Amino acid sequence: MSLKNKVSWQSPSNIALVKYWGKKAGQIPANASISFTLDNCHTRTTVEWEPIEADGAPFHFEIFVDDEPSPEFRPKIETFFQRTADLLPFLPSTKMIIRTSNSFPHSSGIASSASGLSALALCMGDIALQHGALDENNFNRFCSILSRLGSGSASRSVYGGLVVWGQHAEVPGSSDSFAVEYPHHVEHVFTTYRDTVLLVEVGQKSVSSTKGHGLMVGHEYAEARFEQAKANMSEIQKHLQTGDLNGFGELVEAEALSLHAMMMTSRPGYMLFRPNTIAILEKIRNYRETEKVPVHFTLDAGANVHLLYPAHVEQKVHTFVEQELKQFCKDGRYIHDRVGSGPKRLDE
Ligand code: DP6
Repeated sequence: MSLKNKVSWQSPSNIALVKYWGKKAGQIPANASISFTLDNCHTRTTVEWEPIEADGAPFHFEIFVDDEPSPEFRPKIETFFQRTADLLPFLPSTKMIIRTSNSFPHSSGIASSASGLSALALCMGDIALQHGALDENNFNRFCSILSRLGSGSASRSVYGGLVVWGQHAEVPGSSDSFAVEYPHHVEHVFTTYRDTVLLVEVGQKSVSSTKGHGLMVGHEYAEARFEQAKANMSEIQKHLQTGDLNGFGELVEAEALSLHAMMMTSRPGYMLFRPNTIAILEKIRNYRETEKVPVHFTLDAGANVHLLYPAHVEQKVHTFVEQELKQFCKDGRYIHDRVGSGPKRLDE
């Protein structure tokens, strides 16, 4: 079956440098965050749609992942449509078939919510444009708001390069409602950054990010963490401005470990680290020390390690991965990615 109209978008994943961890009602972040948008790790989503007579139901959709009917994804998408109902007034009188697939393997443990929800949000923004419900100049902002309502980190995937979500005094134009492209000078080297994702554990993680954010409510260290993130948002800008790779990397590593420290000290506490995660972090630090290569790690809410480094050391780092890190990866798997330019509309 196919419907009369169709929109398709490709949207990338992103990796946070200063982390979003903790939120308020309405998908409002407890602190500002900044990320690199990735390139190879992305989701492609097509929404076929046509107008129907409204029958009192809030939305009508079917979902296919990799061409298979995938009802297990319905709850996340229903939540998205419930949260965005006011912004997408055409939903009750539109029938949709959503088809989606990720460039990275399902079981890779790479968070698909940022790329997945932003790809869907871009399709919905596109349909809103076609309904005349939106001015073209506001398209990206509108889609970032929609994405945020689906998954906070998805708000940042709507733009390429360095992206900030959350109000911060030193980032003009920044907002808790939508992400913005990082507005200040960035040394060229950061635009060449690579991210090699080392797949330590694949499959569903034991505690979802949404649950983890919830555990920040009443967390003993929450206020200190939000203050730390705010200060790190100020400090990282100095490193981006001056091209201080070591200052940048030290901050990014501390952010990743703070994120996991919050998880470990939640009540109940939990650990997403695996022994191989720690083995990799130690290898990275030793290698950096002995070889003087600017390679640093970050982590998202899982066991996988993101290796961040500039293009000019790419060959060296690839050799290091093959010779010293691959052995700690599940089935020896990793993905080479890089800073990307943001989502793309896919034409037929
Ligand atoms: C650790 O955006 O997945 O990746 O808003 O509940 O969908 P929800 O959470 P999500 O949280 C991401 C957390 C993080 C850090 C980050 O991306 O900033």
